[in-house]
Parts: sequence; C-alpha cells; structure tokens
Amino acid sequence: MKAVLTGAGPVLLLGKSNGYSDAEVATRIREKGMTEGVSKADLSTPCLLLDLDRFEANIRKMSEHARSHSIGLRPHAKTHKCAEIARRQVEAGARGVCVATIAEAEVMARAGIKGLLITSEMVGKPKVSRLVKLVRLSPDTMAVVDNPENVAELQQAAEAARVRIPVLVDLDVGSNRTGVASVAQGLQLAEKIGASKNLDLRGICAYAGHSSHVVGFEARKNSSFEAMSKAIEAREQLKQRGHNVEILTGGSTGTYNIDSSIKGMSELQVGSYVFMDVDYRKIGGQSGEIYDDFAPSLTVLCTVIHRSGNKAVVDAGFKAFTTDRKFGPEPKDLTGVKYGFAGDEHGALTLEGPNREVRLGDRLEWIIPHCDPNVNLYDRIYCVRGDKVEGVWSIMDRASTLPYF
Ligand SMILES: Cc1ncc(COP(=O)(O)O)c(C=O)c1O
Repeated sequence: MKAVLTGAGPVLLLGKSNGYSDAEVATRIREKGMTEGVSKADLSTPCLLLDLDRFEANIRKMSEHARSHSIGLRPHAKTHKCAEIARRQVEAGARGVCVATIAEAEVMARAGIKGLLITSEMVGKPKVSRLVKLVRLSPDTMAVVDNPENVAELQQAAEAARVRIPVLVDLDVGSNRTGVASVAQGLQLAEKIGASKNLDLRGICAYAGHSSHVVGFEARKNSSFEAMSKAIEAREQLKQRGHNVEILTGGSTGTYNIDSSIKGMSELQVGSYVFMDVDYRKIGGQSGEIYDDFAPSLTVLCTVIHRSGNKAVVDAGFKAFTTDRKFGPEPKDLTGVKYGFAGDEHGALTLEGPNREVRLGDRLEWIIPHCDPNVNLYDRIYCVRGDKVEGVWSIMDRASTLPYF
C-alpha cells in the first residue's frame, strides 16, 4: 500500500511493504548482512528510525563548524550510546567521544573508539576497578575528579594496577551538579593530582548544563559566557602554577556557536545535535523561534491502531517516549494533530484539521521530546534513507545479544 493522500508529504504512509515478518527482517539483516529489500513498512512498531540524510548533515555541520573555528570536538555519546555513531563522529574529525557511564566507555572501547572522556565521577570500587581495566585497554581514557578523596582512591587503584590515569578537574560553572565549587578548590585539587604519581592532569572539564537550553540566543550567550568565564579563570590560575591544562572541555548543542568563540576552550562536548528533539527546537535560534541549526533526524515510528471521530490511537505510549518533559512528541510532516499520553502502550491523537487524512493502520513518525533518555528505551536504531532501511545499529551493543532484530 502506498500513500495516496491529498497534500501528502513523504512520511505519513510508508512506501511499499515487502510483507516480511519480524523474523524474516531479522534473517535478512543477520544472514545477508544487509537490509536490502527491507522497507520502513516492514518494521514492527514502535521503533526508532534514524533519517540518514539528516543525521549525516548534522554530523557534517558540527564538524565543519568546529574545524572553521579551530576548536576540537569530543561529542557526547550519552546521547546515542551507539558505537557506530561514535565511529562516524570520529571519522568526521572528532578527537574521541565523551561518555557518561563506565558501561558506555566499555562499549566504545570494545568498538575501538579512542579518546574517551568519562564526564561523571568514578567513585567506589566497582566503578574504579572497571576504570582501571579500561585504562589498561585504552590508555588515553580520561576520568574527571572533584574531590580529594576520589583522587586518592584513583591513585591507589592505578598504582596497584600499575597504570596511569589521565584526569581532568571537574569544575562546577553554575549547573550545581558535580564539580568543585570554586577556582581555589580546583587549584587545590590540581595540586593533589600533581602529587599523585599515577595520575596525569590533562586539564579542566566545565559543562554548563544550565546554559544549554536557555531560551533566546542572546540570553543563552550571556549565560554561557558568564559560566565559562569561571572556567577560563581556573585555566589561567592552573597554568600560572605550572599545571597542564591542555584541555578545557565543555559546551552543548545549545551553545556550540557561542562557546567556539571563547578563547581558551579547547573542545566542545556537544551531544544532542546528531538527533535533536522537541526540547531543543523550542530554545530558539540565532534568527528565529525554532532552533533549527540541526535537523531532527531521530523519530519514533508508530501505527494507528484505533480510529474514531476526531480521535486516533497509536501504539506508542510511556514505553515508547520518555516523560521527563512537560510536553510530548511532535508529529513529523503532519500538522493539526496533538499527541497525548494514554497509557504504557498507547498515545491518543486529537485531530484538529490535520493536513492529511489519518487512517487505521497509518504509520506516523514522531520527533521525540528529549533524545538522550528516549534512545535508552530501545535496543536498536533502524537507519533509513527515504523508505529504505539501510542498516540497524545497536544501542549499548544490546541488539547483537538479543535473539533477533
Ligand atoms: C557532561 C555533559 N556534557 C555534554 C552534554 C551534551 O549536551 P547536549 O546534548 O545538550 O549537546 C551533556 C548532556 O547532558 C552532559 O551531561
């Protein structure tokens, strides 16, 4: 069945189904190593779709921006948790990737991704022993520290394992999450790291999470400049005391084109730009109300399973979209339709004069509210170009250990 709807854009009804069952899709992907002949219409819903044209354009745009501003890129892989995406970011010029957890770091290291920076503190034996093992496998993996006790813990573990751990001082620049609170504390910590013979100080990590989603470009710029001025001050003071601060890393998708003009920042740890989401689109760009520097490339595909009056129900609810935002998903290439959560597996659509007919069995795509946690709900990403499925990428390597795709 093909979309023949008035005013139809490319996405509402999806190409021709080849009639493959889930198991047949799995076999084709696994045994033929490819998704040849598999179309979007063959996929069971709900599932995650990645529009490859948009995704590749996003990667290209951020890489070109960094290159033309002579700043490094270490994109945050917490957004996608996917080694294949990290590989593409590195191929496009990134010096490595950031990760938020030791498990993400292990997945990336196993896939051969170098230049890892774990942006959350590794505290306690279970994590520290995994960190030490990882550093043996990937010696350029960096950890962040914000506490002298943790410095001592890392030093002890590194010494026992006869490895050296590269570390950054984590500085709180206003997010009030982790990080030393003041430049003076940062300096004290740097002294302690300097005196730890198995730790190598590489610089400072200063993530201004509170600036990333400030609405309005000027307000966001002021917020980020204020936050990062503390990081620049810390960098100067550490340098004056003879510490190595070759790295000053921070920034986000919301502030990439603000932070890249800050002298002294050496790299950006942008994450969401690869996928984008409803949340980011709302913050406003340099020239408009919608922040559209990067295109929404990731959607959830779902099916209309009930239709009556001005109501349609889709098979995607709390388990298909995260609910950490006050708003839900937004339809891609469809207007006059509002999504409301209606249960674990259900979303209720209110049709308010949609720009096209919505019928039972239609397959709709939704831009996700907040990309990072949403990705984590799934095991795989179906990569599509037009209607064709071109690949299936595993999230946290989970898909490869499951019985079938
Ligand atoms: C430490 C850190 N750095 C960078 C990022 C990337 O931010 P964004 O996805 O807004 O680009 C995040 C996101 O939460 C983060 O926690």
